[in-house]
Amino acid sequence: AGENGLNGWLRYASLPEAQRQQATSIPSVIVALNSTTTSPVYVAAQELQAGIEGVLGAKLQVLHEPEVTASSLSVLVGTVAAYTSKYGNRNISSLIADGYWLSVKAGSVIILGQNERGALYGAFDYLSRISQGNFADVDVVSNPDAPIRWVNQWDNLEGTIERGYAGPSIFFSDGLVVKNLTRVSQYARLLASLGINAIVPNNVNANPNLLTAENIEGLGRIADIMRPYGVQVGISLNFASPERLGGLKTFDPLDATVIKWWTEKTEALYKRVPDLAGYLVKANSEGQPGPLTYNRTLADAANLFAKAVQPFGGIVMFRAFVYNHLADWTVWRADRANAAVEFFKHLDGKFLDNVVVQIKYGPIDFQVREPASPLFANIPLTNTAIELQITQEYLGQQSHLVYVGPLWKEILDFDLKVDGKPSAVRDIVAGRRFNKKLGGYAGVVNVGTNTSWLGSHLAMSNLYAYGRLAWNPKQDAQALLQDWIRLSFGHDRSVLDTITKISMESWPAYENYSGNLGIQTLTDILYTHFGPGPASQDNNGWGQWTRATSTHIGMDRTIANGTGNAGQYPPEVAKVYDNIETTPDNLILWFHHVPYTHRLHSGKTVIQHFYDAHYEGAAVAQTFAPAWESLRGKIDAQRFDEVLFRLKYQAGHAIVWRDNICGFYHNLSGIPDEAKRVGNH
Ligand code: GCU
Repeated sequence: AGENGLNGWLRYASLPEAQRQQATSIPSVIVALNSTTTSPVYVAAQELQAGIEGVLGAKLQVLHEPEVTASSLSVLVGTVAAYTSKYGNRNISSLIADGYWLSVKAGSVIILGQNERGALYGAFDYLSRISQGNFADVDVVSNPDAPIRWVNQWDNLEGTIERGYAGPSIFFSDGLVVKNLTRVSQYARLLASLGINAIVPNNVNANPNLLTAENIEGLGRIADIMRPYGVQVGISLNFASPERLGGLKTFDPLDATVIKWWTEKTEALYKRVPDLAGYLVKANSEGQPGPLTYNRTLADAANLFAKAVQPFGGIVMFRAFVYNHLADWTVWRADRANAAVEFFKHLDGKFLDNVVVQIKYGPIDFQVREPASPLFANIPLTNTAIELQITQEYLGQQSHLVYVGPLWKEILDFDLKVDGKPSAVRDIVAGRRFNKKLGGYAGVVNVGTNTSWLGSHLAMSNLYAYGRLAWNPKQDAQALLQDWIRLSFGHDRSVLDTITKISMESWPAYENYSGNLGIQTLTDILYTHFGPGPASQDNNGWGQWTRATSTHIGMDRTIANGTGNAGQYPPEVAKVYDNIETTPDNLILWFHHVPYTHRLHSGKTVIQHFYDAHYEGAAVAQTFAPAWESLRGKIDAQRFDEVLFRLKYQAGHAIVWRDNICGFYHNLSGIPDEAKRVGNH
């Protein structure tokens, strides 16, 4: 039964007979134009074989490097180049790297990738269609919106996972890469089916020991396992490695011995992993070492690595998550949300071409509601990527159902109006808006050894949506969710409707019963990042302040009286956020410090909105488990029970949230709840 979880959305479950009937002509053979047995095209052929057998019950033979010409009823898969050399010119000029052409015509299927990876992606697209009972003729060219579609794991060499909620690491244990990499290969398969092309397996809070000879060999084994799926490996670096691992007296990025050390390490890595995707760097952040120790800039640091990987075609993902976590909360104008622009704006134009600045979607840290990071608008000469979080660190840690697709869509679609021109975040990170060649997506996933991967079957919709959005961010969050439901849970209409309903309601509900109006999630931030902890936000250096007093709440980020953060946005956006009248209700406390009695656009006061939203959100969360129970018998027992357990937990915990937050602000403000639910009546 573990298979139900392990295969995720790649179950290839048998189609109900009625839908099978629609497959009027089933191909009789798979023709694979692969180069080697470890090539993605070879894997594509195997997937096609398994998928067609599972979905349609027909076991097709696979012909590799066939002598025969493609019959009219074959599934042919390969690269454009391989096809051309065999069958004559096939010029699909609009294809770019990793893209594919998929043609289905009266049962005959041709899947051609611009490269081998593209061919595999095309095969997964075809299989997704037939798995959903879609046999319509198509002729589509599909290209990725951005070249960088990575996932980050935060796995420690010891085998624990930072912010991981599904058991120990599938990659590491006891300081080394694990011997049995079966789960890694299964993970690569899931990632490839979404078009994810690289993974960083180790934590951004990186251990220098990753770079020992033994671990480089281990990374080589990971790369070997993932390569057939087109998933390249990159690694997180600890900036002080030359000192901590290499025994040098310094890790100054401009020091000749340090440069030599990194150059040689890089050569050793590429010797074992010739297609290493590159490096990911967290420097001078949350206690991590960095170049500022030596009065060097973050660009000096990024460029050091960029030069080292450049001869091998590697890239450097340099994280913009740099801020002072020992900030002085008594200073009204201090603001962690300003940090990224303050650290990076003046460096624009100083990064080498193969550096990409990786920016968390909002200015703080994966909260339930944040505006888009202003940094996206401030470094037009620099490659950028957006960092999204699949692991639900602040969003209930997979014990709560929270489908995050709609949150990501709001950020990706947000128009920053740089220079008064349309500047959606998705167009910036794709490189389109500022004419950059590199850019894209990094998703923090943190799967573990649990056979559900994320600890929760329903949380897998987030991984699915992440990959699909990184391929094409214009897709609709609900449509992606529904693809995932059909692929994961089958074709029953009530299953589709029910999971759609609870998933689409889940982010708004969670926002309602956790942190409203842009005040942030209000989890305990000092220890667990789980459960309510409104008092933990303030009076410490972490900078996730709410500035709640007995009369007022919210961060004043205005230009004239506040931290000036609103002014980091381009003028048209700045104007909206700087003015309390034009700031949307859902971000009012992010940008403004107001009395609890301040009236929102909705007509409610801030405090009454808090009370009402918490009751509403918690009430919605009560409906999830009963809705799920109506599906008993329509889903395999294991997944049914495991999901039900979590939804019941969520129902209870939503009430804990509601009562804690309402009680906290009621005590603080002394303002009664108009509906008389909060406090003693
Ligand atoms: C958050 C998270 C940390 C993580 C950090 C990061 O603060 O709680 O665990 O290391 O983000 O993204 O670097």
